[in-house]
Amino acid sequence: MSIAITGASGRLGRLVVQKLKGKVDPALIVAMVRDSAKTHDLGVAVRQADYDQPAQLEKALQGVEKVLLISSSEEEGKARQHLNVIAAAVKAGVKYMAYTSLLRTETSPISIAADHIVTERAMRESGLDVTMLRNGWYTENYADFFLAASGSGTLYGCAGDGRFSSATRSDYADAAVKVLTSQGHEGKIYELAGDTSYTLADVAKELSRLIGKVVTYQNASDSEYIAALKRMGLPHLDAAKIANFDTSAAKGALFDEGRQLSALIGHSTEPLATTLQQMLKR
Ligand SMILES: NC(=O)c1ccc[n+]([C@@H]2O[C@H](COP(=O)([O-])OP(=O)(O)OC[C@H]3O[C@@H](n4cnc5c(N)ncnc54)[C@H](OP(=O)(O)O)[C@@H]3O)[C@@H](O)[C@H]2O)c1
Repeated sequence: MSIAITGASGRLGRLVVQKLKGKVDPALIVAMVRDSAKTHDLGVAVRQADYDQPAQLEKALQGVEKVLLISSSEEEGKARQHLNVIAAAVKAGVKYMAYTSLLRTETSPISIAADHIVTERAMRESGLDVTMLRNGWYTENYADFFLAASGSGTLYGCAGDGRFSSATRSDYADAAVKVLTSQGHEGKIYELAGDTSYTLADVAKELSRLIGKVVTYQNASDSEYIAALKRMGLPHLDAAKIANFDTSAAKGALFDEGRQLSALIGHSTEPLATTLQQMLKR
């Protein structure tokens, strides 16, 4: 029986497939993708599986025992797309599903939390064995802003003193591989976040240290920050979403000290300084 990964053409999905290949026979791995042209390099079976195409999803899940549902990157209709995957998994006879949800999703002020709540509920009601991988912040999310700040000397945001307990996609991919390849994760909810946390002012300090030039953090109100992001060319919805991440961080939504991620994956999460060093080498 196979293990399928949805969204396998994405940055997290690719890492999961690569890491899974080191743990199970690659012949047992199915990469489910919207556009198969993007994934010939994965070295595993690729099946067409658009979240908006229920029949395609059911076909792609034939013979699959376990599936990792990677949350959709689309702004509209995320929850509906996820429900399509869950329904197709039930019809295809899948036994187990893990899902990349959001840290403390029931109480999170992050705008996309509602989609995760709907998805988690549908999974619990599906009759499948399920695991919630409630992923916290990806350290890479603000890579472009950090790189811009290392050039300009100013990092902008509206997170105030909000702390980000972030981890890398690679750390979160390790968690997904762990639950797909070991026993006892059925019915579990993992609140996953990095071992250490930082504010955006801490990021500025770390960037200063790494590049040998002063970078300062400039905090704005959310409306000022949205306006600044729009001046940089972002559409209003994207700017508002980013500002919502920061204001949510200011309310503590991205801070976590449970260390469930490192406990699950059996190693420390990558420190901010290491990820920043990699980003600066790009
Ligand atoms: N916790 C966090 O900080 C955080 C940050 C960013 C994202 N996320 C969530 O985590 C997910 C994975 O992150 P990522 O970095 O791997 O994102 P990503 O690189 O943007 O990948 C998203 C994946 O979703 C696929 N997808 C989108 N719409 C689809 C559809 N209609 N049918 C099938 N596949 C579809 C994309 O396929 P294509 O290659 O065809 O576009 C891609 O494979 C994201 O989708 C998002 O929900 C979480």
